[in-house]
Amino acid sequence: MATYKVGYFVGSLSSNSINRKLARALIELAPEGLEFEEIPIKDLPLYSTDYDGAFPQEAKALKDAVSRSHAILFVTPEYNRSIPGGLKNAIDWASRPWGANSFARKPTAVIGTSPGAIGTAVAQQNLRSVLSFLNAPQMNSPEAYITFTPDLITDGGQVTNPSTEAFLRKFIDEFHDFIVRVLTVLPHEEVACPTEP
Ligand SMILES: Cc1cc2nc3c(=O)[nH]c(=O)nc-3n(C[C@H](O)[C@H](O)[C@H](O)COP(=O)(O)O)c2cc1C
Repeated sequence: MATYKVGYFVGSLSSNSINRKLARALIELAPEGLEFEEIPIKDLPLYSTDYDGAFPQEAKALKDAVSRSHAILFVTPEYNRSIPGGLKNAIDWASRPWGANSFARKPTAVIGTSPGAIGTAVAQQNLRSVLSFLNAPQMNSPEAYITFTPDLITDGGQVTNPSTEAFLRKFIDEFHDFIVRVLTVLPHEEVACPTEP
């Protein structure tokens, strides 16, 4: 059975992020055949075209991690009804320089959690719009807007509500199937990062 590398972004810089807990839960529930690697965003400088000729080390590491991943999972909070600035900055880095967009043709999925009733729905729609522009195939269904309640997910990634657990298992199973389908017709390619001349 083939193994697929899934790079995942947590859109929060918080040390006790509920979205990182959600990511951990998905990893615990994932089927065989998926390997996960978090792609860190915390230490990235703010993107500027001035860097396009030679990326700084943090940005090069990010771009390389996106490029070697077979698929990308976004687990993000909602900030002011959109995606957090830190996550958008990371996406901007990996999308550049022009012509070397690391997200192109890469299967993606989007999920997030918030204590609010609509569980990051608006942020996810914003993120889907960005991914459309970046030509990243997106898993359309199931959508997953997770309203976080205290103790929903333990520090070890165990989901305490059985119906949420079953739903998250279905989400990550479907993502596995989506990755296989996309990569069957769009084989994985790596995009080089600019280096010093
Ligand atoms: C700057 C800021 C903006 C926020 N805006 C929203 C929002 O638009 N919708 C929402 O549901 N929660 C919002 N929240 C609350 C977050 O959902 C909550 O802080 C959550 O714990 C963030 O996820 P994290 O723990 O993974 O960082 C906001 C929080 C911050 C700090």
